[in-house]
Amino acid sequence: MAGTFNPFDAEQAHNSWPLLAELRERSAVVDIGDGMAYVTRHAECRQLLRDTEGFSSAQGFKAPGVVVPLEDRTLGELDPPNHTLVRRVMVTALTPKSVRAAEPYIEAKASALLDALPATGPVDLVPTFTGPLPNSSTMHLLGFPEDDGPQIMAWAKGLIESGFPATHRNRDGVFGFAEGFPEFAGYIDDRIAERRSEPRDDVTTKLLELEVDGERLTPPQLRAMVRNLITGGLTTTSQLLGNLLYALFTLPDLEDRLREDPEATSRAIDESLRLSPPVMFIPRGCRRETEVDGTELEPGQRVVMGTACANRDETVFEHGDDFDVDRPNGSDHLTFGYGPHFCPGAPFARAVARIAVTTFLRHFKPGTVRLVDGFEFQNVPAFFETGPARLDVEIAR
Ligand code: HEM
Repeated sequence: MAGTFNPFDAEQAHNSWPLLAELRERSAVVDIGDGMAYVTRHAECRQLLRDTEGFSSAQGFKAPGVVVPLEDRTLGELDPPNHTLVRRVMVTALTPKSVRAAEPYIEAKASALLDALPATGPVDLVPTFTGPLPNSSTMHLLGFPEDDGPQIMAWAKGLIESGFPATHRNRDGVFGFAEGFPEFAGYIDDRIAERRSEPRDDVTTKLLELEVDGERLTPPQLRAMVRNLITGGLTTTSQLLGNLLYALFTLPDLEDRLREDPEATSRAIDESLRLSPPVMFIPRGCRRETEVDGTELEPGQRVVMGTACANRDETVFEHGDDFDVDRPNGSDHLTFGYGPHFCPGAPFARAVARIAVTTFLRHFKPGTVRLVDGFEFQNVPAFFETGPARLDVEIAR
């Protein structure tokens, strides 16, 4: 048993690249204890992520025995056939057009945040830039008042840190979203009610009005989907921006390259996503006996798709540990998942990242922002996320 790796242990999850390379070499599926299997390779992660009948999302992040009522499930917690129907509503609401329409706002917000930084001296870019930009952008997409952003962020963080994603309970053990987080749920319900009486041009209104096979989402489903859009995109996109800027400050020539060749920005974003995944793994519950690379997966078993590990699979990514903006297939990483649950917010996250980097490079002259002396990368406390807790830089004229 390769019980030496525990993806749920934050300390280990972020510092185990040599061990993960060893596991990947050994087998496509390794036993990591407690009856859990960890999938190490790219092809097998894709095979199982595609198989939504055999591998359930309802049991994904949930602790054994936790069953969430159907109407309270986010999109990411639904299995077919419910998932298929609700997903159609979600992707129709979150179109490329709605992402494009948000871009001028994201750019103006990025500029405003950078203008508000001190002209010279030390500053932490996490609370001043990489955190607030995704937050305001998500509020804009949903059509919620920008001033409510900090409160929403606090609720979303509180929910994630309470262990709710695994237990469906708040810190005091109260079961259910509306019951455990009444202020957060009430806020979402109020915004939906506003749009019911007065439709607006935003994603929330689209979710409310869209019909699939003549059916609309029910009020609890709507609340769960809006919650999914908030919690799915906030911290993940903040980690992406933090990781990207950290790469810009630490990798020789990356800043020069992106200034000379803005086309390379999208590929740099994918390399950051591949090597420093804001989401490190994707858990599923096995529902059907399945053999993978000589290992039998059993119904009821928890199976963890090691997407961070698969993103460095040498059979797919040559010199997989290297950050290479010229990599032809960098976007084949699994950081946004794969198959029917593939992240519908990916184009939005990519747009926020592209605009953030482009605006950052336009705002500062070459080489005028650098990490403070002695800076040490400290990961955010969440075990399934990679991203800097702080990004202390010194701004020079
Ligand atoms: C860098 C940023 C992001 C990362 C790394 C990320 C990652 C992921 C991953 C790995 C999944 C698939 C989970 C699975 O297969 O069970 C997913 C699903 C999802 N994401 Fe994202 N995400 C990001 C940003 C966003 C944004 C900005 C939004 C919303 C605007 C969003 C909304 C969702 C939703 C609703 C799902 C559920 C999809 C489904 O189950 O069909 N995500 N995300």
